[in-house]
Amino acid sequence: MGRAFVYVILGGGVAAGYAALEFTKRGVRRGELCIISEEPLAPYERPALSKGFLLPEAPARIPSFHTCVGINEERLTPKWYKEHGIELVLGTRVKSADVRRKTLLTAAGETISYKILIIATGARSLKLEEFGVKGSDAENVCYLRDLADANTLVDLMQSCSGGNAVVIGGGYIGMECAASLVINKLNVTMVFPEAHCMARLFTPKIATYYEEYYKSKGVKFIKGTVLSSFDFDSNGKVTAVNLKDGSQLPADMVVVGIGIRPNTSLFEGQLTLEKGGIKVNGRLQSSNSSVYAVGDVAAFPVKLFGETRRLEHVDSARKSARHAVAAIMEPNKMDEFDYLPFFYSRVFTFSWQFFGDNVGEVVHYGDFSGSTFGAYWVSKGHLVGSFLEGGTKEEYEAIAKATRMKPAIEDLAELERQGLVFALSV
Ligand code: FDA
Ligand code: NAD
Repeated sequence: MGRAFVYVILGGGVAAGYAALEFTKRGVRRGELCIISEEPLAPYERPALSKGFLLPEAPARIPSFHTCVGINEERLTPKWYKEHGIELVLGTRVKSADVRRKTLLTAAGETISYKILIIATGARSLKLEEFGVKGSDAENVCYLRDLADANTLVDLMQSCSGGNAVVIGGGYIGMECAASLVINKLNVTMVFPEAHCMARLFTPKIATYYEEYYKSKGVKFIKGTVLSSFDFDSNGKVTAVNLKDGSQLPADMVVVGIGIRPNTSLFEGQLTLEKGGIKVNGRLQSSNSSVYAVGDVAAFPVKLFGETRRLEHVDSARKSARHAVAAIMEPNKMDEFDYLPFFYSRVFTFSWQFFGDNVGEVVHYGDFSGSTFGAYWVSKGHLVGSFLEGGTKEEYEAIAKATRMKPAIEDLAELERQGLVFALSV
């Protein structure tokens, strides 16, 4: 038994939604395109799960955040796919792929064949078990990757209101969930191995600013250690978190955000991998010319830095997906993907954006006792990265533009003195 399509998108997340929109803009015909997703619903804007979805008042709910609402395009509801003749094969896991035969085998036993495949399988949460800690399947421990996880988190927050939440991990999930837990009236303790939060991106000075605010909201930070085990009650619920430093934290619920792994396993041994992802060229094409990869799972050349990178952020998922479809539909017209890395977050009333690369020397600017401040990264005499908290639309656009231009920086003290004015005048 089987079906055949011209184009198949494997994975139904953010990248899949933006790829579908681009296909329709470039004249895909009814019945040519299929999206296969393990999730039971049409693609949605995953970032909403750690923000609007967790609000105690008027939370965001599907269908309000189906893709591509994030960029004020059409909102791609199931009806939209139907109207455009795009087949959604939902609640269906692909269990094997054969890129030589151009077929995918679903867990239900169906073979789906393609002429062109776009891999958009994203990533999965790393589990505590992978660090030797048992018990993360307990009912009051949650991860946050998909809508099912987010529903579990909301149910737990509601049932534990006023109680103790332990957040494991000081990255994006940890910081965004800790803020939401506070807003939902839980007592929050964050535990992570680094010296400060968001260690992959923030400087100690930037991290201190946010940590001080979190502390003022009652959040406790336990740094430089990791958990070693859980204590459970007779029903298998976690009651406490034991740390390697010997201390113990009582817990009514636990949220874990300790990083991700890209979903590449179907293609290992069939496609070239790099940086943990599927290696693609500037057209997002893998080592097999009929197979493209986009979003979290793709390792693509970042021209600006002359390096292959795998980025785990929504802007890169959206743009790589659209570029791949453009390259597929108009092979003679397309330039190579020329992407400026862009990350952002929103917690409490804060909002920051970062563009480029956080390597080299750092220059901070602005008012760290107020609400607008930032940093520049300078490497080999050029501006390579820019961070801004509390900026206006024009200011964010200015730091993005300046970072893309990579201007020469001769005097770091002068850059510090000029601060945001530097980006605004480049
Ligand atoms: P994505 O993970 O969105 O989708 C992959 C899809 O493939 C899933 O539907 C999955 O079920 C499916 N799939 C995988 N294997 C399959 C198989 N074998 N068979 C069938 N289907 C399969 N970024 C940012 O820049 N700003 C932000 O604020 C946030 N916020 C944020 C919050 C939360 C809670 C998360 C989890 C992530 C973010 N991100 C983010 C990151 C951002 O959401 C992420 O980069 C994109 O979702 C990546 O899009 P993809 O389409 O590549 O993967
Ligand atoms: P992350 O990589 O941002 O952070 C992982 C954190 O795990 C590290 O900061 C570290 O503190 C911690 N850690 C690692 N090993 C640990 C251990 N053994 N014990 C305790 N802590 C440990 O990953 P994440 O926060 O899990 O986020 C998952 C994914 O979701 C990422 O791809 C991220 O980009 C994405 N995301 C992005 C945003 C955003 O861009 N605003 C928001 C939410 C999620």
